[in-house]
Amino acid sequence: MKYKVLLIGSGAREHSIAWRLNKSPLLNKLFCIPGNPGIAQIAKCHPIQIEDFLSIKKFIEEHKIDLVFCGPEAPLADGLMDYLSEELQTKTIFIGPKKKGALLESSKKFAKEFMYKYDIPTAKYKAFNSTELNKAIEYIKLMTPPIVLKADGLAAGKGVIISPTHEQAISEIEMMLKGKFGDASKEVVIEEFLSGIEFSCFVLTNGTQYVILPDAKDYKKIGEADLGLNTGGMGSISPVDFVDIELKEKIIQRIVNPTLYGLQNEQIDYQGFIFIGLIIVGNDPYVIEYNCRLGDPETESIMLRLDSDLIELLVACDNHTLDDYSLVINKQYAATIFLVSGGYPEEFEKGKVISNIPHDTHSSFIFHAATKQVEKQLVTNGGRVISISSLGSSKEDALQKSIEIANQIKYDGKYFRKDIGFDL
Ligand code: AMP
Ligand code: GLY
Repeated sequence: MKYKVLLIGSGAREHSIAWRLNKSPLLNKLFCIPGNPGIAQIAKCHPIQIEDFLSIKKFIEEHKIDLVFCGPEAPLADGLMDYLSEELQTKTIFIGPKKKGALLESSKKFAKEFMYKYDIPTAKYKAFNSTELNKAIEYIKLMTPPIVLKADGLAAGKGVIISPTHEQAISEIEMMLKGKFGDASKEVVIEEFLSGIEFSCFVLTNGTQYVILPDAKDYKKIGEADLGLNTGGMGSISPVDFVDIELKEKIIQRIVNPTLYGLQNEQIDYQGFIFIGLIIVGNDPYVIEYNCRLGDPETESIMLRLDSDLIELLVACDNHTLDDYSLVINKQYAATIFLVSGGYPEEFEKGKVISNIPHDTHSSFIFHAATKQVEKQLVTNGGRVISISSLGSSKEDALQKSIEIANQIKYDGKYFRKDIGFDL
């Protein structure tokens, strides 16, 4: 059988997934909602809004889609997969959890309660709602700074605040519980600060079986040496040098297995990816967060190293034959760097003409994020514009290849980090 696949999303993560899907001999046709100009080179893109569940459903019926893969978290948290599986009379494969599974990402309080219940190592915490400001302040006073405050709901990646002093944490919690992040901060998790190095672990599961994708590390800060403001991600590297067999075994035994057990025990049927944000304290892994999707820009590096047929893998997940599946992973390093707009993550201008995108790039791949086609010109359309991912025999080699391409591409205000993978 060959599959008609619908990919939902519009970032460089989705472009790299589309690129990998497009290599599969099992692909009949690739569609994307809404996609971007890069994805449009390899898939048929349709300008349907990802919030418009009814139109997505009609599209799936009309084009006889066999497999739906949702990239971003927001439609999953809003129940896209619940809606499609209830409304469609077809045997479509869904990659992405239903609303209940997506709570792992869409409610920090749910995720913390889940980790505590199933003994999964994570920072100590307490959650407070808007009627409990005084209790929250008392709790803060007992803590040793820095103090971590997390809006319970999705807040576009901005909902975590790390306060260096009690005073600042108290003034932040007041603002948060009074609605600084709207409904997302009507409840707030206050947790202990963990000091260590972070990286990401990606699991593909059907709720009972799973495979673990190559590990990766993202770089969130705008400046080199990991300084400055947080961004949506300035680059990634895979594999991560310090992740050895011993650490992987701890992650499986202490985190992945109990997470799947917990989902089963809570009767949450979960098909899709679980992204586990980890921090290593001493030699032990702790969970910083769960996400119900793949990470961006980790995926751009991971897709380069995943030599398995992605459609075959997703079908094996759905067929419950993952236990027999062994992933084929490229042994090389992958390094991704993001070209961003000048001024990002603060104010920046859009609409800058992008030129000089090379075509023959051998072991480098260019994935679009915020680009837009305006007549014959490609222009910037957001903060994180284009990602460049390269394979290399070493970290240096992979990074150097990405930097060379980053230097070639031109637009006003272009900025990127040259130290991805070398901050440590
Ligand atoms: P999140 O939005 O949950 O990914 O959090 C954003 C970032 O905040 C994480 O990538 C960490 O760098 C940091 N962070 C979150 N929780 C903690 C914690 N308990 N201790 C230290 N850093 C944290
Ligand atoms: N790389 C972090 C994220 O996708 O949330």
